[in-house]
Amino acid sequence: MKQKLVLKLVLLGDPGVGKTSLISQFVHARFRHSYQLTVGLDISSKQVKLNDGRTVTLSINDIGGQARFAAIRHMFFKGAHLAMFVYDVTRTETLTNILDPWYKELMEFCSQPGKARSAIQTILVGNKSDLEDYIMVDEEEGLQLAEKINANEHILASAKENIKVDDAFKTLAQSFFDEVQQ
Ligand code: GTP
Repeated sequence: MKQKLVLKLVLLGDPGVGKTSLISQFVHARFRHSYQLTVGLDISSKQVKLNDGRTVTLSINDIGGQARFAAIRHMFFKGAHLAMFVYDVTRTETLTNILDPWYKELMEFCSQPGKARSAIQTILVGNKSDLEDYIMVDEEEGLQLAEKINANEHILASAKENIKVDDAFKTLAQSFFDEVQQ
């Protein structure tokens, strides 16, 4: 019997950076201009093709970025294989916050025995790259932060214009097999 491969992915980042929008573009090829904050958790799934032709299903967990959800957020990290850290290229503080609280929160959870997979694969995504005239973060700054948190890649994307969105999700799924299943 053929086994279905399912990887659990969590998206982390400040409110309004575009986590829900990246998922919506990737899963439904849709973009919504109005902001609707994510309350708690939203789960969707989509299949992606790996470089060797195999297919893997991503179970995508959109975790609300509002501070008031912090108390319940860690529950959704359980069993995660992949994490996508998202910042908004027009707001510098959203990049700074990747290190603390977002990366810190995930690492604290992962360091507890039996709480999550030890080798969680991550990438860093700078979203809203379409807003060219308002970009406040240098690509170099993003790259440096990606190195600091040991992310596999730093990708500049736009959920609105569908730039590098598929790439981001596929790269992350692929990294699991490249790094973990050698
Ligand atoms: P929380 O649910 O609060 O954690 O927010 P979020 O990170 O899921 O942000 P969301 O996807 O709801 O997007 C917030 C706002 O940014 C919305 O008004 C989106 O339309 C807008 N937005 C998202 N991605 C892009 C993008 O790539 N470009 C532009 N110009 N706007 C974007």
